[in-house]
Amino acid sequence: MNVTGISGVRGRRVNRFLFWVTLNLVLVSFYIYGKRRVVWRAEELGACFESKKNMGSLEMMDNNICSGRRVWEAEENGEKLQKLHLPKDSIINLDHGDPTMFESFWRRVGDKCSILIPGWQKMSYFSDVRNVCWFLEPEFADEVRKMHQLVGNAIADDCYIVVGTGSTQLFQAVLYALSPSDAPEPMNVVSTVPYYSSFQSVTEYLKSGLYTWAGDAFTYDSDAPYIELVTSPNNPDGYFKEPVVNRAGGKLVHDLAYYWPQYTPITTPADHDLMLFTVSKCTGHAGTRIGWALVKDLDVARRMTKFIELNTIGVSKDSQLRAAKVLRAVRDAYDGEGSGTGERFFEFSRRLMAERWERLRDAVQKGTLFSLPDYSTSFCNFIKETDTAHPPFAWLKCEKEADCESFLKRHKILVRSGKYFGAGLEYVRISMLDRDETFDLLIERLLEM
Ligand SMILES: Cc1ncc(COP(=O)(O)O)c(C=O)c1O
Repeated sequence: MNVTGISGVRGRRVNRFLFWVTLNLVLVSFYIYGKRRVVWRAEELGACFESKKNMGSLEMMDNNICSGRRVWEAEENGEKLQKLHLPKDSIINLDHGDPTMFESFWRRVGDKCSILIPGWQKMSYFSDVRNVCWFLEPEFADEVRKMHQLVGNAIADDCYIVVGTGSTQLFQAVLYALSPSDAPEPMNVVSTVPYYSSFQSVTEYLKSGLYTWAGDAFTYDSDAPYIELVTSPNNPDGYFKEPVVNRAGGKLVHDLAYYWPQYTPITTPADHDLMLFTVSKCTGHAGTRIGWALVKDLDVARRMTKFIELNTIGVSKDSQLRAAKVLRAVRDAYDGEGSGTGERFFEFSRRLMAERWERLRDAVQKGTLFSLPDYSTSFCNFIKETDTAHPPFAWLKCEKEADCESFLKRHKILVRSGKYFGAGLEYVRISMLDRDETFDLLIERLLEM
């Protein structure tokens, strides 16, 4: 009886102990599971646009609301994630170069790029009245110079920096600055075919008396002064471009939006009189709307600044600070601080572009319907390897169809026709910068054709 009594007490203690251990295990796992829990919620964002609204070459459409596309929202460890689910028969819109493919990198960087601006800060119109560009935030200017030093893609040290609301505003500031106000005729603006489609539409839309679109630089045969726009690497075909008119009275503008290591080998630091860059294509922050011009001539920098003063009385300081923070985060990772993602930005973005190009070339080569340009290799001084170009757009030629845009549209792929770039209808420009889900669907569809 005694013996049984003692073992009964011991048994109860053991049971109680086991109960507490189990309870604690259950609570701990609830805690961990609860934290890591991913809550997926499907949300239909809107109806599908059956056809694009034509807003010219600057055509924009929210990809997320195309074609019954669903955005799945998830929460993991308190972080909001978005995943797109594209039904197999979705219309995919690769018409514009919206660089959403870089979102996944910045999501992983997390709060390192967040900025907080108290309500009382950055209220003034002015940033630095001693600077030619008086609305340029010194912090942003500093990061621009350091970024060019890091990548080695341009010599910025002896240049004035003019900040713009995207490089699109700077392009207009350039046209204003380089066109004399007292000339008898408007200044001719040219670029070699195929040229960036916005050059023509932005030059023409205000019907300015200062400048006029004169088309293909290859066929420009006037003695009148001109502005030649040189985009290198080029949008849409990805090739390196040189000026072609080379006559007296010519002024050159180098649009280097894509002269970054993810798109092309960095062979030499660019050192031109007027160079345009943008965070839209450098880091993918197109929505921040920040671009910068490196300008050698003080008077040109002054006139560009005047244009932006007349146009928008400066450029958002909030955006400049955000852009500075993003550029700094890229640079810090190369200074040894690490981006926190394991892979640094240019390595990540270059790898992704290379993978996409390989998949696209494979898909195109499997059939006979299309062809793509070939790019030579060069030594990239930034990645210290011989590399080829991975342009932001695929300049695709339909080998059997006269109107390539319409042909792809029948396959529910929206792209921009060659006609907007001064080229033929057999060409189209396809964005390579969209999210993974859209790109996957493009490849799938090309393989099925
Ligand atoms: C060659 C080129 N320059 C400029 C821009 C416009 O850049 P931003 O977003 O800074 O206005 C683009 C956009 O696609 C472009 O392709």
